[in-house]
Amino acid sequence: MTPTPPPDPIAQAHLGLLDLTRALALTDPGLAGFLGDTLDDLGPPQPPPPRPPVMGAALAACCGLAVPRTQPVTDWVIDHADCFAWQQSYTAADGMGADFLAAYGWFNLVSPVGPFRSDRLRITVGYWGPGIVYPEHCHEPAEVYAVLAGAARFRSPGRPPRRVGAGESVAHASWQVHATDLDPGPLLALIPWRGGDLMARATLGLPPM
Ligand SMILES: [Fe+2]
Repeated sequence: MTPTPPPDPIAQAHLGLLDLTRALALTDPGLAGFLGDTLDDLGPPQPPPPRPPVMGAALAACCGLAVPRTQPVTDWVIDHADCFAWQQSYTAADGMGADFLAAYGWFNLVSPVGPFRSDRLRITVGYWGPGIVYPEHCHEPAEVYAVLAGAARFRSPGRPPRRVGAGESVAHASWQVHATDLDPGPLLALIPWRGGDLMARATLGLPPM
């Protein structure tokens, strides 16, 4: 009899986070409506090699900044942080300061290139530390920030600035310019994108003409 191989901790971290994301959506009609049936046809995870987050232990502070509905996802992300492939979209060449680059990161859970593959959906989990500003930017896909832990002020032309905290969400339409003041921060958010080029980097500033 062939012995059962030991469970892959990297795959298990991604499977667990997907399960908790599904559970969270069941408690959040806005998130569920945005996701539609996009989580129904995902295959097995194909995670890239893990890459630790640049903010390291600062992520753990989010544990005490969730609400009961978002606590399981928050704790899972913190407890399995070293299993995910954390990335950054920007560098100093984009005008981002050292304070910003030391305090933010994200990883994909679902995207056209994985770890769970979908051509209809991208889900990133992102963290931004207290005090930094994510300046005005936009992107073709529509998005929802489902805040897992912490709070920040979201700005978008034509809207009053709005404080959005754990358990709340804010939506942006395709190419809608938006910015985030990490006041007070930090912010840990689950961010699904739908429509358009799901893998293109956000455009800093105004939409391209
Ligand atoms: Fe965005």
